[in-house]
Parts: sequence; structure tokens; C-alpha cells
Amino acid sequence: MNLIIFGPPGAGKGTQSNNIINNFDLKQVSTGDLLRSEIKIQTELGKKIESIISSGELVSDDVVNSLIRKIISDPKNFNRLIFDGYPRTISQVYSLENLLKEFNQKISIVFNLNVDKDIVSKRVNGRVICTKCFKIFNLYLNPPNPSNHKCEKKYLEKRIDDNSKIILNRYETYVKKTKPILDCYNKKGILLEIDGNQKIVKICDKIREILENIRD
Ligand code: AP5
Ligand code: MG
Repeated sequence: MNLIIFGPPGAGKGTQSNNIINNFDLKQVSTGDLLRSEIKIQTELGKKIESIISSGELVSDDVVNSLIRKIISDPKNFNRLIFDGYPRTISQVYSLENLLKEFNQKISIVFNLNVDKDIVSKRVNGRVICTKCFKIFNLYLNPPNPSNHKCEKKYLEKRIDDNSKIILNRYETYVKKTKPILDCYNKKGILLEIDGNQKIVKICDKIREILENIRD
């Protein structure tokens, strides 16, 4: 099955995707992670998109859709993808639909993590990510400690777009350009609302329960 994890910046898309891949044989596709790795290794694409990501705007549909084509067309990924942060515009919705059709697949479910604006800001400001094991933590809400993180502290980093000013723009961009596409999935009858303000483990349990029923 293929799924989409949807929600504003800081909703917990990455956190919940990590939990799902630990429990099911699925592969996470985070367009944000793919784009950041282009910046990190300073590819031509990375140099072009760095200022866009640092400002909280969206990268062009063509760039993102072609990254996704490479992943969907790979037979290793057949019917086992969790899309995290994609699609984000109506053009991306259509592109995803066409690509999945071309490769004989579909989206089974879209989880929308609903989170209040003030909570989003606190989550994003406190986020740190381990560059070695890729686990996501939060200095205030979910701090790394010896029982949940084995790598050295020096690997923990903040993201270039995680600050109070940019988060406002990221949130605005989400409300204007991304949130409206939920309606497409609602009309298809595959949208499932989740209260993303709850504790990580509670959301994780809920998602797992739903996915186990789909699998059966
Ligand atoms: P992207 O990387 O996708 O960022 P985002 O959508 O802004 O989402 P985040 O990654 O910030 O949040 P998340 O929902 O994954 O939350 P997380 O689990 O980390 O995109 C970045 C940029 O790339 C975009 O702005 C754009 O420029 C570009 N881009 C990406 N995709 C694109 C596309 N398709 N088209 C065009 N451009 C694109 O959690 C956040 C924090 O909260 C963590 O610290 C975590 O520990 C904590 N936390 C999580 N859940 C909980 C909880 N339930 N309770 C308490 N704390 C929690
Ligand atoms: Mg993320």
C-alpha cells in the first residue's frame, strides 16, 4: 500500500513516518529530506534551491515531480511508499496520480495530522535531527537522551529553515497552497483526520491500528 502523511510544518509527518517504517515494510519519501540532501552536497540543483528553502517558499513543481518519478519508477519501491510532504500543490496531486497510474499503483489512505498554529511554532523551534541515524528530536518536547539516542551529541543539528521568522512563512505557504488540496482526497473518500496535537505515542498507536486493519 502507498500512503500520504499530510499536515503543516512541524505536524509530526517525519516523526510518524519513522514510526510507520519501523512497524511495516514501507519506505518513507520526504521531499524536504531529498531537497535538503541536494543542498548538503551542493549539487547544481542544491545551489538553485537553497534560497527558496531558506525563505520557506515552495520549490518548483517540475523539480519535485521529477524526484518523485525516479522513486515511483523503481521496482524496489512498488506499492510501499509513504509520501511525507508531497504532494503540496494541485499540480503535484495530478502528477502523483498520473505517475501512480503509469506504474499500476494507487494511494490507499491520506493521514491529515491536524495541529494548532501555536504548537507548530514551538515544535519547529525546538527540533534537532541526528545527521547520523536521522532520528528527529525536540529539545523541549522530546529531548534526546541515552535511552532513546545512541549517537554522539555532535551529530545533532538544527535545520536551516527552523526559526521563528521562516516558520511563519512556511505556515502561510501551507495554508494558501497546500491545505486546499486536501479536498481532492476528501472527495475520493481516502482522507483520515488525526488529532496531531496529541502525544507522539498516541498518534503512532492510532495510525498503526488503522494500517493493521487495511493490511488485513
Ligand atoms: P519539509 O521538510 O517537508 O518541511 P515541512 O512540511 O515544513 O514539515 P517539517 O519537516 O518541518 O515537519 P514534520 O511534519 O515532518 O514534523 P517532525 O516530525 O519533524 O519541507 C521543507 C521545505 O522543502 C519546504 O518549505 C519547501 O521549501 C521544500 N519542499 C518540501 N517538499 C516540497 C514539495 N512537495 N513541493 C515544493 N517544495 C517542497 O516534527 C517536528 C518537531 O516536533 C520535532 O522536533 C518532533 O520531535 C516534534 N514532534 C512531532 N510530533 C510531536 C508530538 N505529537 N508532540 C510533541 N512533539 C512532537
Ligand atoms: Mg519533516
